[in-house]
Amino acid sequence: MKPSILVARAVFPQILTLLEQHFDVTSNQDDVVWSPAQLIAQLQGKQGAFTTGSQRIDAELLKACPDLKICANMAVGYNNFDLDAMTAAGVLATNTPDVLTETTADFGFALMMATARRMAESEHFLRAGLWNSWRYDMFAGSDVHGSTLGILGMGRIGQAIAKRGAHGFGMKVIYHNRSRLDAALEAACGAAYVSKSDLLQQADHLILVLPYSPEAHHAIGAAELAQMKPTATLINIARGGIVDDAALAAALKQGTIAAAGLDVYEGEPKVHPDLLTVPNVVLTPHIASATMPTRMAMAQLAADNLIGYLVHGKPLTPLNPQVVKA
Ligand code: GLV
Repeated sequence: MKPSILVARAVFPQILTLLEQHFDVTSNQDDVVWSPAQLIAQLQGKQGAFTTGSQRIDAELLKACPDLKICANMAVGYNNFDLDAMTAAGVLATNTPDVLTETTADFGFALMMATARRMAESEHFLRAGLWNSWRYDMFAGSDVHGSTLGILGMGRIGQAIAKRGAHGFGMKVIYHNRSRLDAALEAACGAAYVSKSDLLQQADHLILVLPYSPEAHHAIGAAELAQMKPTATLINIARGGIVDDAALAAALKQGTIAAAGLDVYEGEPKVHPDLLTVPNVVLTPHIASATMPTRMAMAQLAADNLIGYLVHGKPLTPLNPQVVKA
């Protein structure tokens, strides 16, 4: 008998076809937003789950789903998983590292440039029919080339952004991270390690690329924003909750910093109402990894993890490998 799995969100039809070769598949191609109780009901009798960042896998769910052996997230971030609870329950967790690194770094860079050069604000102005003549200071923003790029969180995506800045745009790149990179990697990235307060004070453009954890909650709040330059931009492509969105909206209104570019939000898909009313912020709906080839590669890796573990006993990118029996 084939193992049973749940695909909890809509996915590429080719990926469903692949999964159906190995599993009895229940899928959610209508992309219904399930409550936690509905997710538990759908998971009954399932050994595997193909999840995205919008399904919370916690102790309560695991207790109610005793057949579950693996949750394969189609995301590199996995703060929707209670990893300790999954390990305690013997449930394997997998994510999709590497395949999205360059695409996400491209987006971080694009969002930084759109923010620094006021692209969204000026486009809204044009569409509203307000453009009557050229003016010497119209939508004058800040330069990206030759400026100081600050990166908070220096994993794979942070490093890929650093390389773009240092080698492509002649930027001075500084970073802060829980652990310092070794000298060879710092040289390859063209990046120098600094304290968090030096990062805040020196960056012209500060990009957040750290994973969400309780310690990272509101890592950027009113006190941190106050340390930044009034001409600085802040870019968040990491996770909602790392920035205090209410404090950021206030800082943007007051001119504490010049502008922000956000792809992720506290409590998304809701967006703090004050962010919707300030002009100097570029807002995108959590799309940093969204190119067709990259989303396909992420879905393929999540599927390969399910097949690898449930069919062959060998997952490709396990987060809690201690669960895999030797
Ligand atoms: C997207 O946010 C991801 O974690 O892959």
